[in-house]
Amino acid sequence: MQDNLTTERATFVTHLECGMTGEKLAADKLANLSAAGKPLLVRYDLAGIKAAVSRDDLAGRTPDLWRYRELLPVRRASNIVSLGETMTPLIGLPKMQKQLGGGEIIVKDEGRLPTGSFKARGLVMAVSMAKELGVRKMAMATNGNAGAALAAYCSRAGIESIVFCPADTPEINVREIALQGARVYRVNGLINNCGKIVVDGREAANWFETNTLKEPYRIEGKKTMGLELAEQLNWEVPDVILYPTGGGTGLIGMWKAFAELEAIGWIGSRRPRMVAVQAEGCAPIVKAYEAGDRHAELWQDASTVAAGIRVPIAVGDFLILDAVRESEGFAVAVSDEAIMAAQRQCAREEGILLCPEGAATLAALEQELASGRIGRHERVVLFNCATGLKYPIQENVATIDLSQPVDYQWIESFSNP
Ligand SMILES: Cc1ncc(COP(=O)(O)O)c(C=O)c1O
Repeated sequence: MQDNLTTERATFVTHLECGMTGEKLAADKLANLSAAGKPLLVRYDLAGIKAAVSRDDLAGRTPDLWRYRELLPVRRASNIVSLGETMTPLIGLPKMQKQLGGGEIIVKDEGRLPTGSFKARGLVMAVSMAKELGVRKMAMATNGNAGAALAAYCSRAGIESIVFCPADTPEINVREIALQGARVYRVNGLINNCGKIVVDGREAANWFETNTLKEPYRIEGKKTMGLELAEQLNWEVPDVILYPTGGGTGLIGMWKAFAELEAIGWIGSRRPRMVAVQAEGCAPIVKAYEAGDRHAELWQDASTVAAGIRVPIAVGDFLILDAVRESEGFAVAVSDEAIMAAQRQCAREEGILLCPEGAATLAALEQELASGRIGRHERVVLFNCATGLKYPIQENVATIDLSQPVDYQWIESFSNP
């Protein structure tokens, strides 16, 4: 088995390109946004990749995201800052399928990645590229999971990390970020307010801005979800992908992955319908989708239990909406009640503790099977983007007092509501 972390492989990046205007920028230089203030996408010599590597070559490579190295931006293996980015499993939900009366339901469980979330995919790429390009300090706004991944990979790479998060970010995330070595600040605002602190402080403090879609490489890491999913399904794509959408990096990244895979001949022209799932308390993309707009307005008073998708405004809004529309998917919002009910049901029926964002996709599936927007024959993939263990859990637990005789009748009669 070839070790992806030490084997040098040919790389094929040609340039960076504005996702909106097509403006081209040189590769291998530090970059944030394009001149138009829009996200930059990494472009590759796809014909070169097609000639250099085949699907069969992957079989001899270790099962981590670096197996797709030719489709990734890092030039030298020595710059890879790895914590073991394992391929994440696809897990069927047979009981939920029966109960909901749908087609096959598959969860891609991203909670197995370092720092317990799919943010590891984006940040391992951003930090490896930062190392390659000589960055010393990285700053970011986060709803929790991305900050933890940034802190971990920066500590590993010897890069300083500075993180700003909304004051009500789940406690475990904030503490984890601090323990992993970042300077972390709680801010009495939302992620967009935190993002502004990073932008405004960039010059003064010499930070490299690592906010969502504000540098080109996180998306390349998230792209591996699409590469991996296609490979795991034997180079078939599912009918529908439900993705919990905040900044949308993963949805945009997967859409890019499928286009690149088709260009190198590894998949055909069939695409999954991409469904952006948001919470009713923060649904700017759904609002823009329903209004037929290409850009989304700032969502006022954003609030939801699914912290990761509490993103009131996204710089890549048009890329999310383009992918949703081109794929003939849609954007949909679910209530916090439906999210919590889906999380509970999945944990109890299937033994899988989804994070609230992941549970939002299950709630959306239930809702849209009922509405008919998802067909009962369709094979659906839900993204569980983090382990449910990183969030507060509110279940009732009974107590036994050892100063009294243990009452077995009471124990047996107690039911977990
Ligand atoms: C668990 C979880 N799910 C979903 C998201 C949203 O991800 P994206 O920015 O790719 O839309 C986040 C982002 O913080 C998250 O932490």
